[in-house]
Formats: sequence, structure tokens, C-alpha cells
Amino acid sequence: MVRVFAPATSANLNVGFDNLGVALKPLDGTLGDEVRIEAAAVDSFSVTGPYAHEIHGANIVERALACVREITGNLEPVSLELYKGMPVGSGLGSSAASVVAAVLACDEHYGNRLGERARIKLMGELEARLSGGIHWDNILPCALGGLRLGASCLPVPAGWIWLVAYPGIRLETRAMRAVLPESVPLHDAVEQAARLGRFVDALYRGDGREAASLMVDTMIEPYRAPSIPGFDTIKAALLAAGALSAGISGSGPTIFAVFDDPKAAGKALERARLWTSAVSGKPAGDSFSKLCGADKGAFAVLCTVDEAGARVLPPDGKPAGKE
Ligand code: HSE
Repeated sequence: MVRVFAPATSANLNVGFDNLGVALKPLDGTLGDEVRIEAAAVDSFSVTGPYAHEIHGANIVERALACVREITGNLEPVSLELYKGMPVGSGLGSSAASVVAAVLACDEHYGNRLGERARIKLMGELEARLSGGIHWDNILPCALGGLRLGASCLPVPAGWIWLVAYPGIRLETRAMRAVLPESVPLHDAVEQAARLGRFVDALYRGDGREAASLMVDTMIEPYRAPSIPGFDTIKAALLAAGALSAGISGSGPTIFAVFDDPKAAGKALERARLWTSAVSGKPAGDSFSKLCGADKGAFAVLCTVDEAGARVLPPDGKPAGKE
């Protein structure tokens, strides 16, 4: 059996709309999707995991299989399983994780014929069918790991802690792009470009505080924030708790924040859990594993950067979500 895990990602990060993204790994457990594939007498497809109920009808994972078969010319039947370890429409790169894990797993199973470039191209094309456009800011960090501006891997300040809080409601990327204006004032575009340039420069100089101070979004957030219940309140609470930056993860509704102080991150996590339970109407748990097993909905977790990205797992290990 081939097993591939693909991590959650947070795109945009305030300063890099459609270009910047980071792969994330909870301090406690993992967050992402897993695809398992093995030879079988006939083709079969199943969806398991805490968010399996959110997957309906023909799945992108089956399309990935069809595409890999078409390219490789290998039609040998398989048993294919998607372990859906993260919520759909969450702003955490859920569709990217499924697509990335599926393409890598299918290619591995059929003898690794595509290679990295062709795999990544196919991942982008498949994800575009799901969400209405190619989001490299999810696909590239998910596939390759790390903090990425396009395909370029950026240095992450030592000690940064990331918080992601998912409030248990679904926002489709397609819909959240439809709320955006078709053009932005020249002044705003110039300011945002300058911030992104200075952000990259600060990272390379190892100045995490300055880099975080540049993670500001005046272009996209005002249009999307009204779709996220209590966004302004929770963002202010996270900043008051000591976040260096906070904002919308991808197209929402998950919010993200960055810290360089573990105490501040812990305090913010408590506030984030109050917010997720208020929005989802469910009690806040005290660890991701517990939430994942218990209510399968909203959660808030502290993360580090997942440097590895999508990876082949040992065939006989536990499900990725239970590691
Ligand atoms: N950059 C994309 C957006 C990411 O914000 O629409 C979608 O996950």
C-alpha cells in the first residue's frame, strides 16, 4: 500500500494575496489529508476520517487517479481511500491537500512516472476545477513544505508560533473571490507590493518582528471580513493577547495569527477557542486530537511550519490525523 499525507496550509498571510502560503503542523498531532492506494481486483473508492461527511459525490481524488492513469497509460485496478482529516471550505487549503495527496499517491503507486514538475502542474490543474482557479499559494507549500512565495522557499524566523482557528462554518473560495473588487486603487496596490518586498527582505535579515509588522492586509480583508462572524472582535483579541499579526487564512473562515512568545500564543489560543465555540455553538476542547475525535467540527491549534510538505508514510502506521 502507498500512503501519502498532505498538510494544511494557510494562504495569503495578509501581505501576499494569491502568492504567499505556509504549510502548517500542529504542535499536538497533524492536520491534513491522507490518501491510501493499493492494487485490487476491481476499482473502489472510499472516504474516511473526521471530515468524511463533508465529501459528496465524485471526488477530486478519483479525478486525480484518472489523470495519472491517462498520463502513465497504466489502468490496473486499485482500492483508493481518502482520509479526510480537515474541513472543506475552511481556508486551510483543504482541496489542495486532497489533490496533492492524491496525485502523489497515485503517481507513487504507478511507478513514479510523472516526476515533481508534472505532478505539481497536475495538482494545480485539478485544484482549479474545484475552486475556480489555480491557488499556487496553497498547492506549492502543501506539496513542497515551508513558507513559500510562489515556489521560492522563504526563511521563517526561529521561534515563530502560528495559530489557526476554524469556527466550524464553510465558506467556498469561489464565493469569497466573488466578493472581491475587479480592480484596486493604484495607491493600495503600490503599498501592498512595497510591504511584500520589505517582508521578504526582513525575513532574509532574520528580523521576525519587522517581517510580522508588515503582514497587513488593506486590500482583501475589508471585503471578506463581514462573512466571518465576530472577525473584528477576535482579531483585536488576538492582537491584544500578543499576536504579531492576525488575519484571514486563505479565503476564510479560519483566522490565523503569528507569535514569537509561547505565553502570548497560549493566551491567544484560549481566546480563539472561545470564539470558535461561540460561532460553532459547540464547547471548546483542550487539544486538537480531542476535538478531532469528539466533535469533528471547530478547532483552534498552535502550529509550527511543516517543512516537509506532502510525504509518503510507512504503509502500516496510524492514520495521519492520529499520529
Ligand atoms: N489566495 C486564495 C484566495 C487562496 O484567497 O482566494 C484560496 O484558498
